[in-house]
Amino acid sequence: MDTTKMSQPAPNEAKIQAIFEDFYTKAFADGILGHFFFGLDKQRIITFQTAFTCQMLGIPGATPYRGRGLKQAHADLPPFKRVHLMRRRHLMREVLEQHKVPADWCELWQAKEHALEALVTSGQSSTAQAQASCHKNKPTST
Ligand code: HEM
Repeated sequence: MDTTKMSQPAPNEAKIQAIFEDFYTKAFADGILGHFFFGLDKQRIITFQTAFTCQMLGIPGATPYRGRGLKQAHADLPPFKRVHLMRRRHLMREVLEQHKVPADWCELWQAKEHALEALVTSGQSSTAQAQASCHKNKPTST
């Protein structure tokens, strides 16, 4: 997508960080996703996820991403099932709307995340991989 034609300028790094503060507050407390995060450092994940997303969206001048590759970062977690991926999409959509991210930026952000789901699950068990790739062409709205 040509981001020069977007309705408004890109969200900046501070806004993206605020979005992930809210997203991970929800995710850590969530009945479907919370167990993945037991005992983990929320602020560290927010910092990495913010830098990753700035890079993903091409935000100029943002802090570079210095986290692990997505396959490695998720490899030791319990396998993600479709319900987990769909729940993450749903919570992200909720938070993007709460922060009034313009619709075209929401669409671009979520499309890029959805395209990475197969990579995120690729170091996990074959069952999880099969589920993610089997559903990758299904509609992305929740
Ligand atoms: C159901 C889906 C997902 C769950 C439950 C999940 C969970 C997690 C958890 C628990 C961590 C921390 C790992 C650790 O500290 O050892 C993490 C890290 C991370 N996740 Fe996810 N994740 C999901 C999907 C995604 C997707 C789709 C993306 C890409 C947009 C993503 C990007 C990241 C990044 C950038 C990190 C930091 C990497 C690092 O720790 O070095 N995740 N995720």
